[in-house]
Amino acid sequence: MAILDPAGLDRLRAAAQDAAAHAYAPYSKFCVGAALLFDDGRIFTGCNVENVSYGLTSCAERNALFRAISERGPGYRIVAIAVANRNGAPCPPCGACRQVMSEFVTPGAVVTFPGEDGPETVPFAGIFPSSFRFEPPSS
Ligand code: THU
Repeated sequence: MAILDPAGLDRLRAAAQDAAAHAYAPYSKFCVGAALLFDDGRIFTGCNVENVSYGLTSCAERNALFRAISERGPGYRIVAIAVANRNGAPCPPCGACRQVMSEFVTPGAVVTFPGEDGPETVPFAGIFPSSFRFEPPSS
């Protein structure tokens, strides 16, 4: 898929970096941006939004996903995820965001994020192999 060639991943990383500029992070000062590429070619971005009641903070990745679903429903699947920050720090997605995104990724989805030695791109399944699943009992 052409959209996932190196230039496509560069564009997705740039979109995540741009989104980080909108972060509301007065407590941690850690400004994160995320960009999700969906299977129809569209990109949705998000940034982290903190709260003085720290536990209410919402991560960039989940904000990007919730924004996409809010705008057009849950029918699309993520093919690539980019995470960036304005602090020049390594920044793989947190466990909570991995769990939430796991319900919406394609089997071959990739994640790109700032690693210890520059950008790292890995399969989503490699960083989150056993998501929680639950079949609700039929009533
Ligand atoms: N944060 C994200 O936005 N995404 C992650 O995957 C990890 C952490 C945010 C939450 C908080 O605002 C700040 O980074 C520091 O933890």
